[in-house]
Amino acid sequence: MKFFIDTANLKQIKEMQELGIIDGVTTNPTLLSREGVDPIEQLKKICETVDGPVSAEVIGLKTEEMVKEARELVKIAPNIVIKIPMTKEGIKAVKILEAENIRTNVTLVFSQNQVLIAAKAGASYISPFIGRLMDNGQNEIDMLWESMEILNAYDFKSELIVASVRNTRHVVEAAKLGAHIATIPFSVLEKMFVHPNTEKGLEAFLRDWKKLKGQLNR
Ligand code: E4P
Repeated sequence: MKFFIDTANLKQIKEMQELGIIDGVTTNPTLLSREGVDPIEQLKKICETVDGPVSAEVIGLKTEEMVKEARELVKIAPNIVIKIPMTKEGIKAVKILEAENIRTNVTLVFSQNQVLIAAKAGASYISPFIGRLMDNGQNEIDMLWESMEILNAYDFKSELIVASVRNTRHVVEAAKLGAHIATIPFSVLEKMFVHPNTEKGLEAFLRDWKKLKGQLNR
C-alpha cells in the first residue's frame, strides 16, 4: 500500500519524506491557500522534494478550461498529476488528458457510481473523500469496500486513493480492503507511529538495563 501525504506544507512533506514512508503528495486549493505563497512555486518545490506523484488541482469548471490549465500545470514537473473534479465536464477532461498521457486524479468522489464512471473514463487515480462521507453520517467504509470490489471486478487501470482521511482507523480500513493508496494528513501520519505501550515498554527496558549495570558494578 502506498502512502501519500495530504498537504502543501514543505516542512511536513520533508519530515515524512526523511522517514521514508511517503510515495507521493496530494494538494488541493484549500491546502495550497493555507501556505499563503505562490501556488506554482510551492508545487515546484514539492515536486523537487518528492519523486512520486504530486496532485495539483484545476480551478476551471469547463472541460476546455480544465484541459488548458492541466497542460500548463504539467510543465511544472514530470511527476505532476492533475486533479479533476467529478463532474460531467471533468470526466470529459479526464478522457482528453489521459489520451495525451497526462495523469489525472478524479477528486470529490462520494459514491460507488462516481468511482465506476471515473474508472470507465480512464482516470489514473480516483479519490473517494471518506472523512466527508463520515461527517454526513454515511457509512464511509462500506463505500470503500464496494468501490474496491468494482475496480477489482474489471480490468480498470485506475488506482484508488483513499482521501479525506480523518483518523488512524481510516488508514487501517483502507489497508484491510487493499486500497492502492491512502492520502494521509501529517497529524494522522504522526499518530500512526505511536502507542503508549511502546513508550512505557522502552522506559522499563532502559530502567532495568541501568539496574543490571548498577548491580554488576557493585
Ligand atoms: C484529497 O486529495 C484531498 O486533498 C483531501 O483528502 C481532502 O480532505 P478533507 O476532507 O480533510 O479536506
